[in-house]
Amino acid sequence: TDTQVGIIGAGPAGLVLSYLLHLEGIEAVVLEARSREYVEQRVRAGVCEQPTVELLRELGVGERLAAEGLPHRGLSLRFDRADHRIDLAELTGKAITVYGQQEIVKDLIAAHAGKGLPIEFEVSDVELHGLDTESPRVSYHDSEGNARELNCAVIAGCDGFHGISRPSIPAGELTAYDHQYPFAWLGVLARTPPSHEELIYTHHERGFALHSMRSPEVTRLYLQVDPIERIEDWSDDRIWHELEQRLETRDGFSLREGPVLEKSITPMRSFVVEPMRYGRLFLAGDAAHIVPPTGAKGMNLAIADVRNLSRALKALLCDNDGELAASYSDRCLRRVWRAEHFSWFMTSMLHTDPNADAFQHRLQLSQLRYTASSRAAATSLAENYVGLPFDRAD
Ligand code: FAD
Ligand code: DHB
Repeated sequence: TDTQVGIIGAGPAGLVLSYLLHLEGIEAVVLEARSREYVEQRVRAGVCEQPTVELLRELGVGERLAAEGLPHRGLSLRFDRADHRIDLAELTGKAITVYGQQEIVKDLIAAHAGKGLPIEFEVSDVELHGLDTESPRVSYHDSEGNARELNCAVIAGCDGFHGISRPSIPAGELTAYDHQYPFAWLGVLARTPPSHEELIYTHHERGFALHSMRSPEVTRLYLQVDPIERIEDWSDDRIWHELEQRLETRDGFSLREGPVLEKSITPMRSFVVEPMRYGRLFLAGDAAHIVPPTGAKGMNLAIADVRNLSRALKALLCDNDGELAASYSDRCLRRVWRAEHFSWFMTSMLHTDPNADAFQHRLQLSQLRYTASSRAAATSLAENYVGLPFDRAD
């Protein structure tokens, strides 16, 4: 074989897996469709759960995260034009860290480069073969257009929701669970200091809004919009005006505005396939499941999956013990379904559903008020938000 593990995709799942395997003494090659610049600039997640932060530190790639990441000990639910703070640290003893996903990706790529670990960028026409044999194979074209083949013992499908790994599994082998929401998020990155020290998840008649950040100089904001909206129709002025209306409070919250650095619209959906394995192909991260972004679980789940996968592959490839590989999917899916529920719950509680009736809206407000006023309800939100321990997530 050319390598032990062929990894498709250099997102958080593929890169953390490759690095974990390296630390276990297992060889891997990462194949990525995009360029290094592209994956390092792609603006996506921002919230790292405590278990994610601890894992990255144990891997030795948490130095810049510790120096530049912003620790948050609480968050606000904003509704009825007032803030209701959830004290994550007091309720759980844990906190989250705000640090951009592309910064984690940069740190991992740099760590690979430092150790000479192979990542091939700008590959195309990736196809998987022999998945139900002991010697699967990846065919592709390298960045220069040369036809190449990679013979492996195992393939890890870490190529995200739109990748080729999941669709390479024969029809009928997987069961898919799919749920669509009548919402999308318009995300904005702006060069302006945050308007508040913590994240603000806002429920408003005009729709959900989220205040987040990337650094003391850069603010990240999101607006609920209809999934058919086009970004061309959202001028910067229109975005700021809408944010102001939704974030307004009775005690005069003021939103800091600044130049918009990036804006885009992302549809929301929940999706899971079971099992997360077919023969010698193991799926991890968004390739196997996605959550709506409310609750900030996607990247964290991807990293939890590959932690399980690296252990399973070590047992399989070093000790010829297939037990952890056989239970990989079940172990991941416990945490996946917990995150699916939490993300659905946060989404349903906070968004304004255009199809909901007045009764459903009253229920939603009751749930918000209960979460803000009951220690039991707030603790449930908080323990899910900061991240359940890796080995206890059901
Ligand atoms: P990806 O990051 O999608 O990586 C897959 C990689 O595979 C990509 O680099 C892609 O280019 C590559 N690829 C695709 N097809 C091929 C192919 N055929 N061949 C080779 N390579 C291929 N999650 C959180 O935890 N917290 C948050 O706060 C959060 N906020 C979010 C906000 C937004 C607006 C969005 C869009 C997502 C957010 N998420 C969040 C989700 C998070 O970004 C994803 O869950 C995460 O990126 C999943 O990582 P992954 O490695 O599984 O997949
Ligand atoms: C961010 C994204 C989320 O999905 C979320 O729930 C909180 C913060 C962010 O990008 O900062």
